[in-house]
Amino acid sequence: MLYLSRPLLVACLYLLLPLGQSRTFGYNNAFHYEDISNGNGNGEIYFNGIRLHVESPQHSVSATRGSSVTLPCHYRYEPELTAPRRTRVKWSWLPANTITTNEAFPVETEVMVAMGNRHRSYGSFKGRVRLRRSAPGDMSLVINELQLNDTGRYRCEVIDGLEDDSVTVELELRGVVFPYYSQKGRYHLNFFWAQQACLDQDATLATFEQLLTAWEEGLHWCNAGWLADGTVQYPITVPRHGCGGDNLSPGLRSYGPKHRLLHQYDAFCFSASIKGTVYYLNYQEKLNFTEAAYACARDGSQIAKVGQLYAAWKLKGLDRCDAGWLADGSVRYPITNARANCGPPQPGVRSFGFPAPHMKFGVYCYQ
Ligand SMILES: *[C@@H]1O[C@H](CO)[C@@H](O)[C@H](O)[C@H]1NC(C)=O
Ligand SMILES: *[C@@H]1O[C@H](CO)[C@@H](O)[C@H](O)[C@H]1NC(C)=O
Repeated sequence: MLYLSRPLLVACLYLLLPLGQSRTFGYNNAFHYEDISNGNGNGEIYFNGIRLHVESPQHSVSATRGSSVTLPCHYRYEPELTAPRRTRVKWSWLPANTITTNEAFPVETEVMVAMGNRHRSYGSFKGRVRLRRSAPGDMSLVINELQLNDTGRYRCEVIDGLEDDSVTVELELRGVVFPYYSQKGRYHLNFFWAQQACLDQDATLATFEQLLTAWEEGLHWCNAGWLADGTVQYPITVPRHGCGGDNLSPGLRSYGPKHRLLHQYDAFCFSASIKGTVYYLNYQEKLNFTEAAYACARDGSQIAKVGQLYAAWKLKGLDRCDAGWLADGSVRYPITNARANCGPPQPGVRSFGFPAPHMKFGVYCYQ
């Protein structure tokens, strides 16, 4: 017995040590450390009980597509240091459209790394990002020409010698979520077709956060659709039998992650502000689908996409009680001030579905 107890005790101590350390070394906001590798460049032991703080005054930032945005981040030492330090900064990113997996720690991808005045950016951020550096310690990230798929959680990490600290900032885009189904009818889109369908409408698959915001703003839709994370959900504001369930509270109903090739649903797309203008073409007579596309081209524009019509309705207040063709062969019209003979008593984009292409309507163009 005596023989056993000693090795056991040692084993326990051994287990405790890394645990205790990992708590200190984790992403807390006020790291205590001693530095032996960095110092003042002469290899001296320079630090003792100095804290590196990385902070952001904003934990989420909302911006518009195509604009520039600044994700705030700065660091400081406590107590303040007079000698300059060799710090590195790394901005990384967890895209909002990351597919849900069982991994507890999804992988962040690099956006930019900087050391001194040298920096490097990666992937779709190449040439679009820079550090603001408006003051010492300002490591705020400026992103230009914001794209629909730039949303997600950004991490600003400052590395000094062996140790580091970080802070995260969420980036959201202002926009609108709309349900979309295939010309073939309800539930004909697997995940990849849903992705393409949204892209074709100048939109992307909506993220969970975007659908949640749309639900808070009153979106009610009885058919389930794909989201960017590979789950299938639908937003319910007025539950009833066959639509969200009897006696259940309003909310997002989720079928969870579905097979992205085999399972077919509708899609929830997200569209954000557009550079151009959507307008109803004033034309003396009604047009079939081919004539509609020609009429826009003759007017120096293009037949509008569904995402463009939604963005114009939601973000620019487009209001028109005339049904018009859109590029996907659907017919819709946007109403911001609900009134008699223009559909239901709530604002919205009204849809006639996909009429036969020889039928005659107006047309919405995009310039
Ligand atoms: C994001 O969208 C842009 C423009 O549509 C595209 O070029 C880029 O590949 C997309 N990036 C990702 C990570 O999907
Ligand atoms: C639309 O009308 C034109 C004649 O103006 C005709 O040539 C064309 O086939 C029609 N298109 C459809 C889809 O019916």
